[in-house]
Amino acid sequence: MTRPRVLSGVQPTGSLHLGNWLGAIRNWVGLQASHDTFFCVVDLHAITVPHDPQRLAEDTLSTAALYLACGIDPDNSTVFVQSQISAHSELCWLLNCVTPLNWLERMIQFKEKAIKQGDNVSVGLLDYPVLMAADILLYDADLVPVGEDQKQHLELARDIAQQRINARFAPRDAKGEPLPLLKVPEPMILREGARVMSLTDGSSKMSKSDPNEGSRINLLDPPETIVKKIKRAKTDPILGLEFGNPERPEADNLLGLYALLSGKGRQAVAAECAQMGWGTFKPLLAEATVEALKPVQQKYQELRADPATLLAVLAQGRQRASAVADQSLSRVRQALGFLGT
Ligand code: ADP
Ligand code: TRP
Repeated sequence: MTRPRVLSGVQPTGSLHLGNWLGAIRNWVGLQASHDTFFCVVDLHAITVPHDPQRLAEDTLSTAALYLACGIDPDNSTVFVQSQISAHSELCWLLNCVTPLNWLERMIQFKEKAIKQGDNVSVGLLDYPVLMAADILLYDADLVPVGEDQKQHLELARDIAQQRINARFAPRDAKGEPLPLLKVPEPMILREGARVMSLTDGSSKMSKSDPNEGSRINLLDPPETIVKKIKRAKTDPILGLEFGNPERPEADNLLGLYALLSGKGRQAVAAECAQMGWGTFKPLLAEATVEALKPVQQKYQELRADPATLLAVLAQGRQRASAVADQSLSRVRQALGFLGT
């Protein structure tokens, strides 16, 4: 039996934070045993907003190293860099030509990011979800594990595959039945950790693009920084922590982080912290965070000390990924009627 295929990726923009880990990468790790897993560093997406060319390659390597440090095993998963597989850009173009402009204009992430960019919005930023659709569709992915913020992009990828490619271009068999062209993927969004909120505002998500460093905990933050950030995290004047009170988004968020990072689970920490003041709670959360990140940081340092091994992992990933991607691309090229190569 073939195992269901999983594909996901994170942009190499700045350092990965707890939201990326708990919302996305942590879920990838558990899927390796039961699924055929592909994980890419989506560096082409990273240039949809102004970027620093001096940092792109380094950030790409450090993101790949963090995947491995978080538990992605290159013997079990295909780990690769998006820009090293030219099929991503090429399928993106083919999909661009069948995707209605207004589907892209209504993407929430585009609208949010476009506001931040003022009048300097690139076509790439608008096109971002089509490139993401290409990433997914090239690998015939069954499942795409992402945080909740990416759900709309997943819907778009499904619509492009189904309505704009398969319905129009799938070749027919002798009986006139459509043959498979692109696999329509399913999103996979785990409830816990799907939305880690900012430390400075419990109602907005923790994000790399927040200019305030204190709003997020990066996976590579040293223990003193973690302690400091948690000490300064926004609280409220109420005694006792609880889940689910809409008036207390910070309590919900920090308690949720504690549940995940300590490994104790929501029920146990709800009971443990029901009467606890913030002054007692924060050091506990800080300790759980430092402990949870310690093995990740250690593994990361080892990997960075041995660049040849990391590059070999990416070279192997590139080879495996391009074998799959080139086949899908050629299927689509043929269905669209291009002259063969
Ligand atoms: P950012 O928003 O910080 O730039 P990305 O857009 O690169 O992060 O997201 C990479 C992955 O991490 C995606 O699957 C996304 O859904 C997940 N993710 C990002 N931020 C969070 C968050 N605050 N909570 C949960 N998951 C998140
Ligand atoms: N857009 C995703 C994010 O910001 C990153 C991404 C790009 C992705 N291509 C992908 C995620 C393909 C899953 C599958 O998080």
